[in-house]
Amino acid sequence: MEPIADPTADPSIRIDSHLDGVRERSLADDVLDGLTRPFKELPPKHFYDARGAELFDRICELPEYYPTRAERAILTASAVELAELTGAAELVELGSGTAAKTRVLLDALHEAGTLRRYVPVDVTESMVRECAQMLTEEYPGLQVHGVIGDFERHLDQVPAAVGPRLVAFLGGTIGNFPPGSRRRFLRTIAGLLGPGDHLLMGTDLVKDPDVLEAAYDDSQGVTAEFNRNVLRVLNRELDANFDPDDFDHVARFDSEHEWIEMRLRARREHTTHVRALDLPVRFAAGEELRTEISAKFTPERLRGDLSAAGLQLVSWLTDPDELFALTLSRLTDTPAPATDTSGASS
Ligand code: SAH
Ligand code: TRP
Repeated sequence: MEPIADPTADPSIRIDSHLDGVRERSLADDVLDGLTRPFKELPPKHFYDARGAELFDRICELPEYYPTRAERAILTASAVELAELTGAAELVELGSGTAAKTRVLLDALHEAGTLRRYVPVDVTESMVRECAQMLTEEYPGLQVHGVIGDFERHLDQVPAAVGPRLVAFLGGTIGNFPPGSRRRFLRTIAGLLGPGDHLLMGTDLVKDPDVLEAAYDDSQGVTAEFNRNVLRVLNRELDANFDPDDFDHVARFDSEHEWIEMRLRARREHTTHVRALDLPVRFAAGEELRTEISAKFTPERLRGDLSAAGLQLVSWLTDPDELFALTLSRLTDTPAPATDTSGASS
C-alpha cells in the first residue's frame, strides 16, 4: 500500500511503517511458541513499548550500565576518522532508539560535508517519528527516511543507497541474537552493503562477571522493572493477567557461552491466562522465563562472526578500559576468478 501524501508534512521526512497488524501477530506467535515450550522464552524485541523505551533510556544513565558511556567515548574519539574512512552520504541505523549517540557520528559526517540522508530502523514507532522530527531540525538539509519495522523481517524495506553507505548497529544489540541467528543476521546486514560501504557495530566485551552482572541488575532496580515490563506488554496487547510482582528479575553471566541471561523467575506456583490466545500458562514455583541473552565478545569471536557473514574488519576501536568495542567492517574482497588457481582442487 502506497503511503498517502500529507501536504502539510515536512518534505525532508519520509516514514514508512511496516508494522500495521504485524506487531500484534508476531507478539501472539512468539507468546504461543515461547510460553508453551519446556523452557519458557520470549524474544527481546517486545520489551520496547513506550514505557520500555523510557526505562531503557534510564538504564543507559545508570552508574552500573557502562556500555552506553564506553560506546559514546569511542564514538567521540573516532568520529572524525570514521567520517573520513567511510565518506558516508547515508547513515542507516538498525535499532536506532533515540539516536542519542548517533548524533556524534551525524555531527562528524555533517561537518565533513558528505552526509545527505539518515535512515533509522526501529520497531518503536514513536521513537522513529520523534527522532526524525528532531534530527531534521538539528541538521539542516538532512533527509530522514524512517523505517518502522522489525529489523529481522523488514531489512528489504531499507531504500536504495543514495551514495556511500554506513550501516550502524550500536548498543551491543547484536549480542541479543544467539550465535547461529547472529551470523545469519550479519549476512543479511551484509546484503545492505555494496563495495565501498561499511558496517559500524558496537559489541560489549568479555570481562569480570561481577561487572557484567551488575550492569544487568542495578541497585535501583531499573533493569528489573525493564525486564518485568514485557509482562505488562503481554497484559495490554494480549489481554493476559500477569502480576509482574509474581516474578523476580534474574541476570546471570553464563561463562560457558559468554553471555548474560536475563530471566523472570516465578515466586510461586501459579497459572496465568493469555486471554487473547485462550492460553493458560502454568509456572512452577521458581520456574524461569528467559527474556534475553546479551552476548559478550572477544576479538577472535567477533572476527569469526564477521568473516562467516562475508565481512572483513577495517578497524577495531575500543575505550581505554577495553570494556566495549566498535568495529568498522566491509564486504570481504573476493579474489577475481581468473587469478584463483585453487578453484579446481577445492
Ligand atoms: N541504538 C540505541 C538503542 C539500543 S536498545 C543505543 O545504542 O542506545 C535496542 C533498540 O533496538 C531499541 O530501540 C529497540 O526498539 C530496537 N529493537 C529491538 N529489537 C528490534 C527489532 N527486532 N527490530 C527493530 N528494532 C528493534
Ligand atoms: N542491547 C542491550 C544489551 O544487551 C539491551 C539491554 C540492556 C537490556 N539492559 C537490558 C535488555 C536489560 C534487557 C534487559 O546490553
